[in-house]
Amino acid sequence: MAPAEESTKFEAYPMKSGDGPNSYAKNSTYQRGIVDIAKEILHKEIAERLDIEIFLSSNTFHIADLGCSVGPSTFFAVQNILEAVELKSQSQGLNSQISEFQVFFNDHTPNDFNMLFKSLPQNRRYYAAGVPGSFYGRLFPKASIHFFHASFCLHWLSRAPKEVSDKNSSAWNKGRIHYLNSREEVVEAYEAQHGEDMECFLHARAQEIVCGGLMLLIVPGLPHGASHSHTEAKGSHEVVGSCLMDMARKWQVVQ
Ligand SMILES: C[S@@+](CC[C@H](N)C(=O)[O-])C[C@H]1O[C@@H](n2cnc3c(N)ncnc32)[C@H](O)[C@@H]1O
Repeated sequence: MAPAEESTKFEAYPMKSGDGPNSYAKNSTYQRGIVDIAKEILHKEIAERLDIEIFLSSNTFHIADLGCSVGPSTFFAVQNILEAVELKSQSQGLNSQISEFQVFFNDHTPNDFNMLFKSLPQNRRYYAAGVPGSFYGRLFPKASIHFFHASFCLHWLSRAPKEVSDKNSSAWNKGRIHYLNSREEVVEAYEAQHGEDMECFLHARAQEIVCGGLMLLIVPGLPHGASHSHTEAKGSHEVVGSCLMDMARKWQVVQ
């Protein structure tokens, strides 16, 4: 399937655009904090695992941040990667050899890429490009990316599982938007969708990554054995879910 076709078959719900008081740009300190916490692991893994010498022939180091949104956390993540790669090359006495960095910022097509480009750091030491489309499909040519980064976005499914909105299915979720305190069949439907999506994600990245490249995925999770209903976001999911259901009911009455 051609990349252009692939990008149209996924549902897209981008973050709030612009830089107003309710925008993602002004309301993502939590996500920024996650990027900060991951910095130490990032530096350690790049220092220990990245074999800089195999990238020397290309001269340009290619980084892709998947599900980047509008910033600013994506810029901090990219800066951390760039510094870690430079430190690694210095430690091998190869500093002058990787002379340029190219960064690809990816998100769904309706993402506010204008806002992203307007707020690019002025003193950045990389070339920036936007790549629109779903990361559940192919985004880049074969063997072209040295480092993939994706933070706080892989828990977004490509779509809600069909069964949960089918009244005749045992996984029908009665209009609710999450699986907390739902029947086991509902949880299984979400799990199956996530499994299917991750397979597509890894299949695409396996083709796009340069042999010897690295990938850092930051995904919210639960400790082994913890029940789904123990997630910290439980309260907010329930409040937002019930507000959305109220709004949908009112809209149906108006119709
Ligand atoms: C919570 S934001 C995180 C943004 C950024 N990584 C950060 O840490 O601030 C999740 C982003 O993932 C994007 N996203 C979700 N599913 C996606 C997909 N299949 N392909 C590309 N982007 C996706 C959303 O549009 C959204 O901008």
